[in-house]
Amino acid sequence: MEVTGSAARLRAACDEARAGGGEVGFVPTMGALHQGHGRLLATARRECSFLAASIFVNPLQFGPGEDLAAYPRPRTRDQAVAASLGCNLLFTPDESEMYPKGRPQVGIDPGPLGERLEGAFRPGHFQGMLTAVAKLFNMVGPCRAYFGEKDAQQLAMVRRMVADLSAPVTVVPVPTVREIDGLALSSRNAYLGPDERRAAPALFDALSAAATLVRQGERDPNVLRAEMAKRIGAEPLAKLEYVAVVDDRTWEEMGRIDGPARVLVAARVGSARLIDNLLLPDTVENMRAIEEEA
Ligand code: PAJ
Repeated sequence: MEVTGSAARLRAACDEARAGGGEVGFVPTMGALHQGHGRLLATARRECSFLAASIFVNPLQFGPGEDLAAYPRPRTRDQAVAASLGCNLLFTPDESEMYPKGRPQVGIDPGPLGERLEGAFRPGHFQGMLTAVAKLFNMVGPCRAYFGEKDAQQLAMVRRMVADLSAPVTVVPVPTVREIDGLALSSRNAYLGPDERRAAPALFDALSAAATLVRQGERDPNVLRAEMAKRIGAEPLAKLEYVAVVDDRTWEEMGRIDGPARVLVAARVGSARLIDNLLLPDTVENMRAIEEEA
């Protein structure tokens, strides 16, 4: 595996792979690689002849009070993980390579979804995230880019950017990897103390409770929201930020569950801010049945 901090070298290597008739797979990350990232890398490895990954803790997507300085940066370990998963090229730019003229003056406007849910609690986050991802796409060139469903709103916004700006990129979604107790893997789980770690599965429990209600026939999203809030509220170490039930196609809050529904939750557990979400399987099957009838 080649490791480079040079955008020009990244571009040249990807150009060369395409010139040889190969397909480039690209996995952007902020490092502190875990099995969630691993699943993205392994999927891309299977599907593409050349695998490029990036590690860059993007300051643009962190707010003033957030964890930019504390974000874990285990570089040697990350390199070993990427190499062991068959990565061909690891791009590890420093800030001056990503932003040679300082903070970009021209960026990506995330549109209305950028103001909601995560965007409401993290002002500027999606603009900063999309600006970095757009730059990485420009450096890598035509590719299949792999994103986790764990960050479902990020995935939706990257897809929308690719469609709206005609980026030569196929976005590939990858299912969420979880611990045995349901907690979604996240680099931020490292902030959890032992008691907080025991409390953290409350997010997945809340999502699972919503899924159970729908399986039992519940169609009122307010009932789901109330149940999820109750579950998080019952965990003294968790502080709820939001629960939501959105139409998976439009990301609008649902008035009634009559199509594919995604439930989302964000909460603080100690100093960690955790997010999770679930596409409710019964609502997808329900939609298929409706489409087949039509
Ligand atoms: P990061 O948080 O490092 O995540 C990199 C990728 O791994 C994202 O696509 C994320 O959704 C995915 N991922 C994280 N945890 C996962 C899990 N438990 N299961 C499956 N996939 C998981 O997301 C970012 O970095 C940044 O915003 C980035 C896209 C790199 C732009 O800076």
